[in-house]
Amino acid sequence: MYYKLTILLTLGLGLVLVQSESPKPITETCLLCMCEALSGCNATAVCVNGACGIFRITWDQWVDAGRLTVPGDTPLSDSAFTSCANDPHCGADTLQNYMVKYGQDCNDDQQEDCYDYGAIHYMGPFNCKADMPYNYENIFKRCLRRAQREQQSTD
Ligand SMILES: *[C@@H]1O[C@H](CO)[C@@H](O)[C@H](O)[C@H]1NC(C)=O
Repeated sequence: MYYKLTILLTLGLGLVLVQSESPKPITETCLLCMCEALSGCNATAVCVNGACGIFRITWDQWVDAGRLTVPGDTPLSDSAFTSCANDPHCGADTLQNYMVKYGQDCNDDQQEDCYDYGAIHYMGPFNCKADMPYNYENIFKRCLRRAQREQQSTD
């Protein structure tokens, strides 16, 4: 899916304007539900077991996704990874690039969608057919169902 769009991301931390020029397979709703399940979208800059920011991005993912940086930073700076992962915009773009590279149909439902991205992010692209951890799956799916209901009620 190659299209240019502007999305408004509400991540519990105000509005972040995301202007995209590269492919973005993950929808706005999906990003929101991923951060909800991963961190409660808590914007406090933090790393937990090496996974940083609202999307709990790891160093390996950041490298795989092309070492994106926040404006003014360079990929070689000591803080490039943590600064990017702790920035909602840079973190979201990192996940987008990661899914462009590793997106796949993990649950064999003949489509590549948010459920697959949630599984790939949490369990890795080579283990994404495994069951998601109960808590993560629970919050993630509840968030997606709620988002679908809200979308229907505004149609
Ligand atoms: C957000 O995360 C920080 C650091 O882990 C924690 O101290 C704080 O209580 C959290 N805030 C909320 C609203 O959960």
